[in-house]
Amino acid sequence: MTNGKESDGSEDAATLGVGLISVGWMGRLHTRAYQAIPVVYPELGLRPRLVHAADTAPDRAAYARDVLGYARASADYREVLADPEVDVVSICGPNHVHREIAVAAAEAGKPFWIEKPVGRGVAETAAVAAAARAAGVETSVGYNYRGAPAVERIRELVADGTLGRITNVRSVFYCGYAAEPKGALSWRFRREFAGSGALGDLLSHVVDLVQYVVGPIREASSLLSTVYTERPVLPMGSGTHFAVIEDGEMAPVENDDHVSALVRFADGPHTTGAVGTLEASRVIVGPQCGLAIEVYGTDGSASWNFEQLNELRLCLGRGGPNVGYTTVLANASMGDYARFQPGPANSMGFDDLKVIEAKKFLAALAGGEHRNATIYDAHQDAEVLAAVAASAEDGRWHPVSTVPDAAYGRTPHVGASHA
Ligand SMILES: NC(=O)c1ccc[n+]([C@@H]2O[C@H](COP(=O)([O-])OP(=O)(O)OC[C@H]3O[C@@H](n4cnc5c(N)ncnc54)[C@H](O)[C@@H]3O)[C@@H](O)[C@H]2O)c1
Repeated sequence: MTNGKESDGSEDAATLGVGLISVGWMGRLHTRAYQAIPVVYPELGLRPRLVHAADTAPDRAAYARDVLGYARASADYREVLADPEVDVVSICGPNHVHREIAVAAAEAGKPFWIEKPVGRGVAETAAVAAAARAAGVETSVGYNYRGAPAVERIRELVADGTLGRITNVRSVFYCGYAAEPKGALSWRFRREFAGSGALGDLLSHVVDLVQYVVGPIREASSLLSTVYTERPVLPMGSGTHFAVIEDGEMAPVENDDHVSALVRFADGPHTTGAVGTLEASRVIVGPQCGLAIEVYGTDGSASWNFEQLNELRLCLGRGGPNVGYTTVLANASMGDYARFQPGPANSMGFDDLKVIEAKKFLAALAGGEHRNATIYDAHQDAEVLAAVAASAEDGRWHPVSTVPDAAYGRTPHVGASHA
């Protein structure tokens, strides 16, 4: 952060030099999120400045400079980390570059906001976590769905006992981005670049969300399946993973299209005996970006689906004349809704969740509230995903290794069982 005073976000705001590594979908979204900060969260007193972006695809690096407005652009991420005007870094490349770049960012002393999944498994995630801890840099991880107003409300209803004892949770991420058999074989379908398929790409969001809302998962069993075994190739750094290629060169799909898991939660004040079913698919027909969570308790239940971002479905109590669900529209009492819209039901969107995430990162960095998903959370999520993957291999239940809180110098894992 270069000089400047604490302020209301006007001329006195402190300038924060932003570095961006990888200018794909997420890189562009992180950029827009930083740009929104002075307007949406003026009290942070920060004015992000787009300093340096890197992408191995020359047209994307040029786009960052010429269209997004970064002062400098490079092909090599090291130039971003070496830039003295860069105060914080967003790491938005494909999964296989995350470990190397995040460790280098930590060693360069740059706080970073990294996309999920942080690594292609526990080992890479733990390596990033160790580097961040050793360097003492702040981290945030791209679990944007935590910031949805309805999600924040459900979390409160679990934590304060309104839903009673949580009996079961259903959460799915049903995406249709590869529902077409000729859907592109992007880096997401290759083990070298992505690691797992729907497991790391989509179930990571589910696992993070249920652990955020309900509490830690302690064991898992699962099944994985691959529905389409080959697809037309899409070169790295071109197009998007939503592309359909009619006459392309075909190559094998190397990871899972679908994952189904059963889980047990750790006992907590409101979660004793709680169980869950978690699923993710990238080939489902019907839902498009259907990240949903349903939480059932002895005194009530609550559910939300990203496809209806602004609607919370709520049932409080077991009977009476109004038994059943009520739809509550997003409003100023829920999460950060009021930062975006003045009245209920003026819909928020996906990009807004990224702005909330940017704010949580920068607020934690500035020493304010620590409500961001950190590398600690990503490490614990990776342990759950590892248990899920191991169960798919041998058909047995697998315990989830607990990442020690103390090693991170922080309070216990977030979630209802830890308030
Ligand atoms: N939080 C979310 O909801 C969400 C949504 C989509 C993607 N993601 C995550 O974000 C990350 C990026 O996904 P995306 O959809 O933006 O990908 P993308 O394919 O749109 O973009 C990736 C970019 O990385 C660049 N790149 C490749 N190797 C590089 C290197 N060595 N150095 C610098 N740049 C390099 C590519 O040229 C490309 O421009 C992934 O980890 C993904 O899982 C998160």
